[in-house]
Amino acid sequence: MRADWILTENFRLLESQKVTFSPGINVITGENAQGKTTLLEAVYLLSGGKSFRAGADRELIAFDSDRACVTGGFFSGEREQKIELVFNRGRSRQMKLNGARIGAGDLRGALKTILFSPDDLGLVRGPASGRRRMMDAAISQLRPGYASFLADYSRIYENKLRILKDWREKPSLLEPLDEFSRQLAVFSAKLIRYRAAFARKLRDAAAPIHREFSAGREELSLSYTTVSTVLDPAASEKEIFEAVMERQEQLKQAELDAGSCLVGAHKDDLAISINGADARSFASQGQTRTAALSVKLAERDIFLEDTGEMPVLLLDDVLSELDAARQEFVLNRIGGGQTLVTCCEEETVSRLLRGKILRVEKGGVRE
Ligand SMILES: Nc1ncnc2c1ncn2[C@@H]1O[C@H](COP(=O)(O)OP(=O)(O)OP(=O)(O)O)[C@@H](O)[C@H]1O
Ligand SMILES: [Mg+2]
Repeated sequence: MRADWILTENFRLLESQKVTFSPGINVITGENAQGKTTLLEAVYLLSGGKSFRAGADRELIAFDSDRACVTGGFFSGEREQKIELVFNRGRSRQMKLNGARIGAGDLRGALKTILFSPDDLGLVRGPASGRRRMMDAAISQLRPGYASFLADYSRIYENKLRILKDWREKPSLLEPLDEFSRQLAVFSAKLIRYRAAFARKLRDAAAPIHREFSAGREELSLSYTTVSTVLDPAASEKEIFEAVMERQEQLKQAELDAGSCLVGAHKDDLAISINGADARSFASQGQTRTAALSVKLAERDIFLEDTGEMPVLLLDDVLSELDAARQEFVLNRIGGGQTLVTCCEEETVSRLLRGKILRVEKGGVRE
């Protein structure tokens, strides 16, 4: 897959302009607050219609304007395609794919990007919820059906949680509790099998990338953790279901006392360690960045293997805090697909890079 060009009009601080990208590496340089991340954001919008930093569409529109447009040409599914997005202040947005009006869900999968932004450091240092979200987002893209299991799970979870919270005031609520627990175990078993399979692939793909990234000095290991009675998360759905049921029964009274769901796929995690030490507590800044990036690159490989298409890689501010060797790895060894990477120090880039340079100044992009 490949983003060929993008046309922005009144999009945040960017000038109204057309920017074309190289099919290989594109380095977006410039001082702080000139529009580098905004340019990546515009490309990211073409892949799914969501921004990675705006909560609402109106934030995307230039302060002095009422309407912003982002149009992009890309190559995906073996053909050239075009997406047009129009954001209006006070009105809903309009979207077109290849000239035809589309709704919110229809953009998914047209162009696939993998984004690394400074927020992703939370993947390594932050709470389990971020790692679950990462796994869920990736699996949803690869396996149609997974997203609906996830939605069913969260509905059942909410119902069970409400019972556990309110049963003291309304004891009659307890009647359907066992049925909700059973359903929670049914869907836990489904999610656990998918996540375990994905985590295994991610582990196998990320370890060699991280090893190369650190010149053989660091061993990255990912391991999926779930309900303690599930000894083998690759076992049959029935066996996992029974193991989750067993744990729920053990903790039934504790759940009633605590007023919360203590057992199920909503507590899963992906434990990350570097040279055997838990990365959450012990990774340095550079190691954290390296590990998060290795996971993203692994996700790209898995997507390629699964679909035959290489997603576009968007790297925001990934070079800071990396030593020269790791920077070189990022800039020159990630090859294969298309990459857009932002960076403040143009010196670093010109020293290490073979790729197209786009200079951004006050919202204007010069090629
Ligand atoms: N809707 C908007 N209209 C006008 N300007 C905006 C809008 N949204 C953001 N900006 C401005 O854009 C600038 C930030 O741009 P951006 O995040 O792309 O910078 P950057 O080049 O990535 O900087 P850094 O190197 O610090 O990451 C801010 O100064 C912000 O005020
Ligand atoms: Mg930025």
